[in-house]
Amino acid sequence: MKIITDITEMQGFSLDRRAHGERIALVPTMGYLHDGHLSLLREGRKHGDVLVMSLFVNPMQFGPKEDLGRYPRDFERDRVLSESAGTDVLFCPDAALMYPASFRTAVEVAGLSDVLCGKTRPGHFRGVATVVLKLFNIVMPHTALFGEKDFQQLTIIKQMAEDLNMAVEIVGVPTVREPDGLAMSSRNTYLSEAQRAAAASISKGLRKAAAAFKEGEKDSASLMGIVRGEMASAGLREDYVDIVDERTLGTLPAASSHGRIVVAAYAGTTRLIDNISLKE
Ligand code: PAF
Repeated sequence: MKIITDITEMQGFSLDRRAHGERIALVPTMGYLHDGHLSLLREGRKHGDVLVMSLFVNPMQFGPKEDLGRYPRDFERDRVLSESAGTDVLFCPDAALMYPASFRTAVEVAGLSDVLCGKTRPGHFRGVATVVLKLFNIVMPHTALFGEKDFQQLTIIKQMAEDLNMAVEIVGVPTVREPDGLAMSSRNTYLSEAQRAAAASISKGLRKAAAAFKEGEKDSASLMGIVRGEMASAGLREDYVDIVDERTLGTLPAASSHGRIVVAAYAGTTRLIDNISLKE
């Protein structure tokens, strides 16, 4: 596996591969890899002759009171894991290279960035969209893969790629879960044992609500009540529960098969997110 830290070198590498007719797949990450990332890499392998994983903890997507400083990092572990999952190139630039003092531009996907997680994390998706566009311009992938766990992020990136006529295919990959259903996330490492046990109520609530939808319950308020009930009895604090259209992220008062139940909740101070499709 090749390790590249320089932006011009990465661009040169990709241009050369493209000139040889090879397809490039990109899996963007912030490191501290778990099975969810490994599943993205395995899927990425199928989409490209060359698999690039970026590892960059993007300061622009963290708010001033968020966990940038304490975000878990372990380069050596990530290097070994990404190589064993079939990565050809690990692209890991310094923040000073990605955001020199002269940096001014931001990408705003209006309407999608300020709802749901965007309400509690103002500016977060501007940071995500901006860094992803930069990564696309640097790695020049044919395909880029993102986890469905961050469903709002995936929707925003798809919209950005469409709006800006980007020649990259965006692929969403299903969420990988712990045996009790908890969606894998680097932030799960912050949870105490009791919080970790309580956190399973999120996916349990989502599964129960999706089952109720399949049995004929279409009222969003009732379905959301099922999720809220599970989380409340486990002692989690809700940030939001909503049923939204998968493309517009607009609230659906009556649940339908193009809807998705989306959740954010706090276990202690750790904010966890999850979602489930209502597709039949
Ligand atoms: O999902 C993530 O880990 C990040 O938001 C991403 C897409 C790598 C951008 O920094």
